[in-house]
Parts: sequence; C-alpha cells; structure tokens
Amino acid sequence: KVKAAVFASGTGSNFEAIIEEKDLACEIALLVCDQPAATVIQKANRYHVPTFVFQPKQFTNKLSFETEIVKKLKKHNITWIFLAGYMRLIGPTLLNAYEGKIINIHPSLLPEFPGLDAIGQAYRAKVKKTGVTIHYVDEGMDTGPIIAQEEVPIFPEDSLEQLENRIHEVEHRLYPQVIQSLIK
Ligand code: GAR
Repeated sequence: KVKAAVFASGTGSNFEAIIEEKDLACEIALLVCDQPAATVIQKANRYHVPTFVFQPKQFTNKLSFETEIVKKLKKHNITWIFLAGYMRLIGPTLLNAYEGKIINIHPSLLPEFPGLDAIGQAYRAKVKKTGVTIHYVDEGMDTGPIIAQEEVPIFPEDSLEQLENRIHEVEHRLYPQVIQSLIK
C-alpha cells in the first residue's frame, strides 16, 4: 500500500473518518500537527499512527519547519498528503516536494467562503445552501483545482450547531470516498 500523511491542527474528526474507512487504499503512516495541544494527537496515538508535532514559533520561518516536515515525510515513505483541518498555508517547500499529491477538505462550496470559520460565514450570510469541497492544494488559501463538491442545505430553523453537524457528516463520508477514488 502507498503511504499517506494527514495534516491536522484540531479535533481530528476527519482524521478519524479516514482511518476508520474499511480497506482504505493507502496506509495513514504519519500525522503532522502544528498544535501541540490538539485533540487529534490523542486520536493518532489511539490508532498507533506515528506523529510529528511541532510548534511553528520555534522555527525561524515556514521554510525551516516545512524542511523538517519534508524530512519526516521522506523518512516514512509518504507519497500523499491529506490536509484535514490544517489551519496553515502550504509553502513552496512542501508544494514542490509533493506536487499534485496534496489535497484539502474545506467546509463550503468553494470559491464561496474560503478561510476561517467557513460554516459560520455561510450561516451568517443566510444562504440557502453551502457544502463541502475537496481540492488539490496550491499556494492560495482554499484555492486549487476542485476534485469533488457536495451541497448541504441550510434550513431557516437551523442552529449553527445543527448546520455544523450536517456538514461534518458529509465531510466524513466524502473525504474517504475521494481518497479511495484518487488512489485506486
Ligand atoms: C473541518 O470542517 C475542515 O473542513 C475544516 O476544519 C475542520 C476540521 O475538523 N478545514 C478548513 O476550514 C480548511 N480551511 P476536524 O479536525 O474535526 O477534522
């Protein structure tokens, strides 16, 4: 099986959905995390997935921490990178080392509502639908060629939490499915 790394900064529900997928076409062989207190690290430990946890502040710049990340990825023979709530732009060091092999999930119908709190942005904009996008990563924020999109309705009586749950359900189904179709 080819080996993949998941990059995450937070809860790790998408990390868990990917890991839990039956007969996943790749092995999740590394978690990369830029937040030493993130819950996703405990999830990785529970699944015995090796982790590379770092604190960006302890490096001089993005070049220096991405150089370390690339070293770890190579050491673990990683060929694919799945961003799952990694709240940081990917720089040229990683983009050049993994050209065409980095994908991201974002909780909106891109190009609408890029950036932070996309679910809250859509909720407050009172639009009737939002969704989930999976796309190849480039140097921009939530830009890059789209691989898959799924709509999620917003009902007038929705609380923000209800909308979040509806979106996360779609994410947890769609991300593993897209990974299977890309790698098989
Ligand atoms: C997910 O909703 C993901 O789409 C979003 O962060 C959340 C992470 O949740 N990503 C972005 O907003 C990227 N711009 P998780 O840690 O439970 O998987």
